[in-house]
Amino acid sequence: MSFRFGLSEGAATAPVPRPPVRYTDGHLMAIANWKNQTIWTGDNLDIMRGMNSESVDLIYLDPPFNSNRTYSAPIGSEAAGAAFKDTWTLDDVDLAWIGLIAEKEPCLPHVIDTAGIAHGKGMKSYLVMMAVRLLEMRRLLKPTGSVYLHCDPTASHYLKLVMDCVFGSENFRNEIVWKRTPFAGSSKARAQQLPKSHDAILCYSKSQKRAWNPPMLPYTDEYRKRFRHVDARGSYRKTLLKTYSQETLERLRTEDRLIEPARPGAHYSYKQYLHESSGQRQVDDVWVDINMINPVAKERLGYPTQKPLALLNRIIEASTDKGDVVLDPFCGCATACVAAHALGRLWTGIDISEKAAELMVHRLQQDRLGQQADLTTQAAKVIHRKEPPQRTDVGKLPPYKTHKHTLYGMQEGRCKGCGHHFPFQNFTVDHIVARSKGGTDHLENLQLLCNHCNSVKGTMDQAAFKAKLSGMGLGT
Ligand SMILES: C[S@@+](CC[C@H](N)C(=O)[O-])C[C@H]1O[C@@H](n2cnc3c(N)ncnc32)[C@H](O)[C@@H]1O
Ligand SMILES: [Zn+2]
Repeated sequence: MSFRFGLSEGAATAPVPRPPVRYTDGHLMAIANWKNQTIWTGDNLDIMRGMNSESVDLIYLDPPFNSNRTYSAPIGSEAAGAAFKDTWTLDDVDLAWIGLIAEKEPCLPHVIDTAGIAHGKGMKSYLVMMAVRLLEMRRLLKPTGSVYLHCDPTASHYLKLVMDCVFGSENFRNEIVWKRTPFAGSSKARAQQLPKSHDAILCYSKSQKRAWNPPMLPYTDEYRKRFRHVDARGSYRKTLLKTYSQETLERLRTEDRLIEPARPGAHYSYKQYLHESSGQRQVDDVWVDINMINPVAKERLGYPTQKPLALLNRIIEASTDKGDVVLDPFCGCATACVAAHALGRLWTGIDISEKAAELMVHRLQQDRLGQQADLTTQAAKVIHRKEPPQRTDVGKLPPYKTHKHTLYGMQEGRCKGCGHHFPFQNFTVDHIVARSKGGTDHLENLQLLCNHCNSVKGTMDQAAFKAKLSGMGLGT
């Protein structure tokens, strides 16, 4: 892969200053503003907002599925105490978010509204939550990067519409069907439907120049059995020759591999020998060879919805090279980080749950890390942070208050909260996304508020602020 990350490898070391690197199209490559092997506890939206653009090669996300359940870990397991909610309700804040989403990607509110009509308000609310975060992920991905969104049939069809809007339908790569278990079982509740045994993993690239190492598997016995004919040269199968040039036909005839049509007008075939094949077949988009973690597996921690390392190994190896950067913004017990570490990738993970952080820091620091990933590697030195990083890729910015005149002109003297006209001196420059939540001093993140609106907003995010104002009968 041609683009490298400007980060020092290894943990607790300071990032090594490197000369700025240019992409082939001339623009500067971002230098990551966080250290390799950082685990964050917090809302991934706040943390991602503070990360530099185009600094990540692969994002794997396994968010809650909108399953209308609360997941919790069994008592007595290493993960006991971990729980997260997967139920979504529409409130004023969600409604205000829709306006923000529309500014960045106008098709999104239509798609989200449609899902709300088809499925209900809970789905709408869930998709709003996902859309704001996916827009941030798009910003973080390098031009050669890929994103894998792990979901299930509850919301996969709606999420695909959202992904088409955010990443572009032309960048859709695969919907991977992961069959979680060979034994899906049955129950009374499922009496009127088939047992559910698969998850969907939606894969998109950031652009058409994606980094890609096609995953391969050895031939199965079943596949080998298809080479059932034998001659002096070995076993072969008869492969139809649908399109061919006269030259090819002549070559195959000379090599004594051409099989004449069985009757006039039928196709030619040729002998395809087993020993001439690569011995490997390309993995397709239906994955049946990786099972869910079984109750006695070495890697099992008991964290609700923990994913198998083999699944993450395949995804990471297909879409990154050694030294590339992997981000998991809903990292749970850090399966993606463990796999990335064992495979020699740089990595970072975010989870909102305190328990998850405790568990993953412990997991990553264990000596059995290598065994878990089925690879030899050492335990990781983990940096645990809570506060979002401050972006360093937006240039050296002037003190933010110097933008007051520009903003006054841009807003035509009206407050961005209540919409009323005020004299210049009655305004305060406000950060739309608070600096404590990863917001920058960039003009795009600033607005003028009248003194009253400014005191209402405090460090609230813009969506909550707008919702509060409309509750007070104010607002634009
Ligand atoms: C399905 S689990 C991920 C499991 C993970 N793939 C693993 O193998 O352990 C989803 C995780 O998302 C976290 N989460 C939910 N909302 C979040 C948010 N806004 N920011 C960060 N993490 C969040 C939950 O705490 C939960 O651990
Ligand atoms: Zn105001």
